[in-house]
Amino acid sequence: MQGKVAVSGAKNAALPLLAATLLAPGTYTLHNVPDLRDTRTMLKLLQILGASWERDGSTVQVNSVNLTGAEAPYELVKTMRASVLVLGPLLGRVGYARVSLPGGCAIGARPIDYHLNGFQQLGVVSSLEGGYVEARVQGELTGGKVWFDIPSVTATENLLMAAVKAKGETIIQNAAKEPEVGNLIDMLTAMGAEIKGKGTDFLTVTGVKELHPATISIIPDRIEAGTYLIAAGAAGGSLEVTDCDPSHLTALIEKLRAAGMQIEVYADRCIASRSVDGTPLRAVDITTMPYPGFPTDLQAQFMALMLCCNGVSIIHETIFENRFMHVAELRRLGAEIVIDGGSAVVTGIPRERLIGAPVMATDLRASASLVVAGLAASGTTEISRIYHLERGYEKMAEKLRQTGAAVEQVAD
Ligand code: EPZ
Repeated sequence: MQGKVAVSGAKNAALPLLAATLLAPGTYTLHNVPDLRDTRTMLKLLQILGASWERDGSTVQVNSVNLTGAEAPYELVKTMRASVLVLGPLLGRVGYARVSLPGGCAIGARPIDYHLNGFQQLGVVSSLEGGYVEARVQGELTGGKVWFDIPSVTATENLLMAAVKAKGETIIQNAAKEPEVGNLIDMLTAMGAEIKGKGTDFLTVTGVKELHPATISIIPDRIEAGTYLIAAGAAGGSLEVTDCDPSHLTALIEKLRAAGMQIEVYADRCIASRSVDGTPLRAVDITTMPYPGFPTDLQAQFMALMLCCNGVSIIHETIFENRFMHVAELRRLGAEIVIDGGSAVVTGIPRERLIGAPVMATDLRASASLVVAGLAASGTTEISRIYHLERGYEKMAEKLRQTGAAVEQVAD
């Protein structure tokens, strides 16, 4: 692998920020919006609710003047659970929302109890019927104290988007500190909201009567960037990852250096390199944690990197209860992995024993893990069901080909 890849805007920032355009009527301009299956789904949902939008390159303009509905249908929500992010802005705008329960997905049950309990503190009554959550403001949206068992990312984002219009003060404790939450806070602030504590787990929101549209740039996708840094370790060579924010990747960069990779860090790019002479990297243990800990969204990809390392790597997944779907597929390539509850033990094997084979993607980050493993393995690895990959990676095959990797996307 030799050359450069440019990182796109963050999927997990674009989704809440697109939902936030529902909060106040008018035309919003969002720059650096990635063109992904998930962002197209969110734009379709905004359209169903009455908004209109147009894309010019990576800039998307959304006009939410005429909201004609407040219901997110099952057919759409079942394809993307992040659709629940319209709950908060709809409650803030019209005091009502009816959203299909997202249901589980490959990596876990994915409940939304923290979201609904939080809204209850703001005077919202919600009920479940026929697979739908119906949430309605009783009287007026009023600030309250919200606390999360686990610093849930989308629950923090949903509560922020309702609290900015709630009378008085809202305190959110044990809030998620992910950079994507910070990007949403920047957008809400540009819209006239009053929020203190960005980047901490203690957020204070003072509700305002009116908000107005804004222009905002989506931050770089730290998970996409991290995936390419890991891919450079798997394939060997030297890869410059541009248009990223290395300060969002400290945990991964430390682990890649501990494994024996050279990572040069600059303001908006990183250069990851490792010798192609086949010297194996060192096995490294990881434990996934809320930000700024090691991201669960890079666990599967990092496991693929550990397959041919010297030694044994122990991977603890603490965020989701079923995020080892990639293990069975990696074993098809020859990987030696034992799962024990929320931990996986990876025993490094010689590179010549990791042999390409047909495998199947099960979820977004598992599919990225299979690409990383395919880059490390000898022979060809054919990955089916790559619609999972297209949810969160813009033009991945094209970006990888630019670095000399032998990757092609065939009709699936
Ligand atoms: C966000 O999901 C991301 N998605 C996920 O990325 C990411 O893996 C996750 O945060 C953790 O970083 C988006 O931002 C759109 P959580 P989210 O609520 O908000 C439990 C990807 O690959 N929980 O932080 O849904 C939950 O079950 C995706 O891009 C409740 O119990 O995750 C999990 O165990 C996958 N009740 C833990 O909290 C709730 O009401 C953390 O989940 C909410 C969450």
